[in-house]
Amino acid sequence: MVIPDALTRAIREARHICVLTGAGVSAESGVPTFRDAMVGLWEKHDPHQLATRQGFAEDPKLVWGWYQWRRQLVLEVEPNPGHVALAELETLANRLTLITQNVDGLHQRAGSHEVIEFHGNLFVDRCFEKGNIVASSVQPAAEGEPPTCPSCGGFVRPGVVWFGEAIPEAALAGAFAAARDCDVYLSIGTSSEIDPAAGLFDIARSSGATTVEINRDVTGQTAHFDFVLSGKSGEVLPQLVESAYKQDL
Ligand code: OAD
Repeated sequence: MVIPDALTRAIREARHICVLTGAGVSAESGVPTFRDAMVGLWEKHDPHQLATRQGFAEDPKLVWGWYQWRRQLVLEVEPNPGHVALAELETLANRLTLITQNVDGLHQRAGSHEVIEFHGNLFVDRCFEKGNIVASSVQPAAEGEPPTCPSCGGFVRPGVVWFGEAIPEAALAGAFAAARDCDVYLSIGTSSEIDPAAGLFDIARSSGATTVEINRDVTGQTAHFDFVLSGKSGEVLPQLVESAYKQDL
């Protein structure tokens, strides 16, 4: 892929790079994207029903089982070259803030440090009643049931953001600040359909950042980016880092 010189220069000279990633970045690790996560056992369920407080309240065992299935799947995969390239870019850039909608923790496993988990993390457990974090070592009352919170006895739920729930305050504030402050904004592997994550692009663009979309397909925002690199993030990102930092070496 030919990376435009203007883009490699913008990346190399950036004071602050802000990155938003979506499920497309984890797809090449074998983690189904959100909208095709419902395969096999889960085909008959609508994630928009399962990933909600009401869905969990109605059938804690079903929703807990779905997340256990997703956790097991993530534990069996590895970060891919796209994750690794972003971790390398963080070491090469003056500053890089990585905002991810993914809950799989693969960016951290690849070595990224400044990560804002916009939708929480699959491997964090919280009390369903009070929201406080619960040690994941807590055991379920019965096979397949969610564990119970040691302090209130209510069910334990996955520490991810469900539909209809607010993004954690600190994540929201950190992401908005990075989008406003950055001079290069990369949107990678996201359909840009879910707010407030999708709105970070407008904040970055109106703050004068150079904007770049990296996606296998066209999205509703594609037409508005300064640069669009069409392809798989696991192939494009290593080339982008190579062209921005290693061409002259
Ligand atoms: P989606 O599944 O909506 O979109 C994945 C995007 O990645 C699509 O635009 C694909 O074309 C693209 N894609 C797939 N494979 C790719 C690859 N190898 N390289 C580059 N791009 C690729 O996932 P998200 O946009 O992350 O929210 O979804 C955002 C949020 O919607 C999720 O976090 C989830 C969901 O509702 C919650 O759970 C709250």
